[in-house]
Amino acid sequence: MKASVRVVTNNPGKWREINEILTSHGINTGWIRTKLTEIQSESLEEIATYSAIEAAKLHGGGLLIEDSGLFIDSLNGFPGPYSSYVYSRIGCIGLIKLMKNVSQRSAYFLSVICYISDAHGINLFTGRCEGIIADEPRGTGGFGFDPIFIPLEGDGRTFAEMSLDEKNAISHRSKALREFINWYSSITKK
Ligand code: IMP
Repeated sequence: MKASVRVVTNNPGKWREINEILTSHGINTGWIRTKLTEIQSESLEEIATYSAIEAAKLHGGGLLIEDSGLFIDSLNGFPGPYSSYVYSRIGCIGLIKLMKNVSQRSAYFLSVICYISDAHGINLFTGRCEGIIADEPRGTGGFGFDPIFIPLEGDGRTFAEMSLDEKNAISHRSKALREFINWYSSITKK
């Protein structure tokens, strides 16, 4: 029987990316679409862990929760852990305005995955993707701040101008997932 992981997120964009990567590695997935409490914290690890414990109380073990954020160097890491709130309030256009006339445009996405299970407790995996903030939004793919993020590992296109597979080859989320998959393969082989 194939191993199976249930992904808890309210964000269809995250689910699409995570599902594609896990499935392509032979891991069966399920989607629990629900909004979990996001505590206020500077640490994505703390936020993901809190959400995972909450989710496990409701749905049992074998759950994967991801928390992520966009950290802009010239804004001292803002919006970071507050990315989803900032996105819902000012979106890509608002962030571009904050970056008007700012020449230092380096930024990175960080992804923290928390896998919680009865047998192995809480396990965290992280991934980071370096890039720069575009001068204006470009592209229609992906979600969130994808239209204004140009990954350094790419060819100058924003994440939103890439296919799902192209983004998944280099994104913060895919890197955290690869860490997770290595670990998960080792525990499911036993
Ligand atoms: P959370 O992990 O649910 O707190 O949401 C993180 C927020 O960061 C999302 O709502 C997006 O605005 C942003 N974000 C995280 N990962 C990505 C990504 O891969 N592309 C674009 N925006 C992202």
